Amino acid sequence: MQLSRRNFMASTAAAALLPNISVAQSATVLRAVPGMQHIAPEGFGETDIWGYEGGVPGPLIRVPQGGRITRTFLNDLPQGSSVHWHGIRIDNKMDGVVGLTQDAVEPGDTFSYDFTVPDAGTYWYHPHNRTWEQMARGLYGPLIVEESNPPEVDRDDIFLIDDWRLNRDGKIDESFGQPMDWSHAGRIGNWITVNGRAPAVQTVKQNERMRLRLVNVANARIFDLALDGLQGWIVALDGQPLDKPIAAERLTLAPSQRADLIVDVTAAEGENAALVMLDRGEAFYLAQFTVEGRARDAQMPEPEALPQNPVPALGDLETAQRVDLLMEGGAMGQMRGAVMNGEAKTMGELAENGMFWALNGVAGLPDEPLLTAERGETIRIKIINDTGFPHAMHLHGFHFRKIEEDGTQGPLRDTILVERNKTAEIAFVADNPGDWLFHCHMLEHTAAGMLTWVKVA
Ligand code: C2O
Ligand code: CU
Repeated sequence: MQLSRRNFMASTAAAALLPNISVAQSATVLRAVPGMQHIAPEGFGETDIWGYEGGVPGPLIRVPQGGRITRTFLNDLPQGSSVHWHGIRIDNKMDGVVGLTQDAVEPGDTFSYDFTVPDAGTYWYHPHNRTWEQMARGLYGPLIVEESNPPEVDRDDIFLIDDWRLNRDGKIDESFGQPMDWSHAGRIGNWITVNGRAPAVQTVKQNERMRLRLVNVANARIFDLALDGLQGWIVALDGQPLDKPIAAERLTLAPSQRADLIVDVTAAEGENAALVMLDRGEAFYLAQFTVEGRARDAQMPEPEALPQNPVPALGDLETAQRVDLLMEGGAMGQMRGAVMNGEAKTMGELAENGMFWALNGVAGLPDEPLLTAERGETIRIKIINDTGFPHAMHLHGFHFRKIEEDGTQGPLRDTILVERNKTAEIAFVADNPGDWLFHCHMLEHTAAGMLTWVKVA
């Protein structure tokens, strides 16, 4: 595949190696605190960020499958926060959702998170209070749960791909809460980083095999990614292994989604290879690889599937509880009004309260859950997108499968991109008791009304 190559914003040929993410193995405190970091293009100074342990991304948390994670979260930010462990099938009390599973951890306060991780795979953590501001300032970190028998690779790299909105001074643009963003596609930025740095050049060897763990940590940008000079297979999505690896040159990653790729360097010595993002017909580097030397004479055989995690199989879909979820609102939508805090409001009244979207006629977190499930019940939710925008719907606590019209089941995921004016049906086994959030992971959409919850008895 041939792609034109240039850097995003075309302002720099960043040459630094990707930073090594520090490993916090024995640390028991996870502190959210303002910091300074050079995230902007070359020629700009450091940017004020908010980070776990003061950096972007936060420390890598890496545990074996079935292991336990204990962290005392210490909030040294100027506003309340929490930690949500995205994609982990977790004890509900540890899910970190302010307003549903816990109160905000106020400045200076702590909260102890303690849970076990049932599934191997690529996950991440982030706040769940004013998430649209806190994540845009850099609060997020990687969480890897190791397979007991990991696939054979030469390197295992994580790419947390972020989209920042910086102003002319290279500072974070303080335009939070703009109705224009909240009612349209969300806060789309103007500068892309990988692991909190400008995309960089790395040296690889021909026929080297890499595991790339891609995570979209942007507030709202959907990444359209492509491989150049690399042959790749998707082996897992949103942490969960595929039954069979899928050969992939291109893939779409919606906010919060992950993809684990196994990639072989097929470009020859002296050539270049790259992971790029495609944006309006142009390609921008997320990583450039210079090929030097050979790892082996021939490419390795195609990768095998990763071992499945202990996620229960769906029950009978015919007798499953069925629920519809209607998404409405936003700019260019047909919505006339919705219920907010138990009262019917017009579109104008909603806008005055920063609300632009509704799920089943309710803007904001409803008092009543979308559904109540018996423990172990199989649930089907038909998501009807009656808006002019795509939405990345994320269900906490469970992985679901897309159910195609002919009944075919898609791969396990925790976030599904539902294109505008499209309908998608998902199904999951409600095996974990508690109150679980279900929301659009375009964070401005969540803040502007797109959230609901499910109750499992
Ligand atoms: Cu990444 Cu409600 O979560
Ligand atoms: Cu949305």
